[in-house]
Order: sequence, then C-alpha cells, then structure tokens
Amino acid sequence: MTITGVTYIKVSVVYFVIGVLLGMYMSIAHDYTLTGVHAHLNLLGWASFALAGVIYWLFPRAAASVLGKIQFWAHSIGLPIMMIGLAFVLEGKTSFESIIPIGATLVVVSVILFAINVFMNVGPRAGIRK
Ligand code: HEM
Repeated sequence: MTITGVTYIKVSVVYFVIGVLLGMYMSIAHDYTLTGVHAHLNLLGWASFALAGVIYWLFPRAAASVLGKIQFWAHSIGLPIMMIGLAFVLEGKTSFESIIPIGATLVVVSVILFAINVFMNVGPRAGIRK
C-alpha cells in the first residue's frame, strides 16, 4: 500500500467524525467520563495526523520514505489500542490498563519517527510540491 499525504488526511477525517460524535454524545448525555478519549481522538487522530498529512503532501519524498511508512502504521495500530484501553479504564474496567502503554508507546515511536523524517526529508531542497 502506498502511503501519501492524502492517505494521512483521509484517515484523519475518520478520527474527526468519531471524535466529534463522541463529544456530541458526552454533551447530550451529560456524561463526561470519556473526555480523555474524545480529546485524544481529536488531537492525535484528527489534528496531528491531518497536519502530518499536509506536510507529507507538500514534501512527497518524506511521505515515501521508510520512516513515513513506519510512522503511519505505528500510529494507526497504536492509537486505537490506546483509545480502547483508555475508554475501558475510564469506565472503571481497570484490567485493561496494561494495553494503554502498548498503544501509547507505538504512538510515541510514530511521533519520534515523524520528527526524524521532518529533519531528514523536509526542507528547501527536499522536493516541495509546486
Ligand atoms: C462538535 C464537536 C465537539 C463537541 C460536541 C465537543 C464536546 C466536548 C465536551 C462535552 C467536552 C467535555 C468538557 C468537560 O469535561 O467539561 C470536551 C472536552 C474536550 N474537547 Fe471537545 N468537542 C468537540 C470537538 C472538539 C475538537 C475538534 C477538539 C480538538 C481538536 C476537541 C478537544 C477537546 C479537549 C482537549 C477537551 C478536554 C478539555 C478539558 O478537559 O479541559 N473537541 N469536548
């Protein structure tokens, strides 16, 4: 599968829809237990991922690099694991606590790879899209 900036942007809008639906549910139900899940879906899933997608659209060489691919999959596997674990824990099911750091570690790895990728493959001579 080819990962491009567009792939990132399309995945990010799925998180956006889920994130705002959860926010809407919390507002209607007056139940703010899952605020932490809502905030992370919107900020890590939508905002950060869409921003990475725009950067990768501008700098296709960065998106096509091995770092860009590993980042995509580490984030796409890690964030759902982290969110499902967090949702269970916030609902009082603490036996799911141990899966949160597994997902969170994948997300942190993906962010670090993104930072390395930006330093290596984003710049004035890195083939910016005209
Ligand atoms: C229709 C869209 C949205 C609705 C209905 C909604 C609803 C809510 C509700 C009810 C809370 C809980 C407030 C509380 O605990 O007092 C909340 C918290 C939060 N929301 Fe949203 N939200 C929406 C969109 C967004 C978006 C787009 C973002 C970020 C990109 C976002 C980020 C956050 C954050 C960071 C918190 C935690 C704030 C805190 O605990 O201090 N929300 N939202």
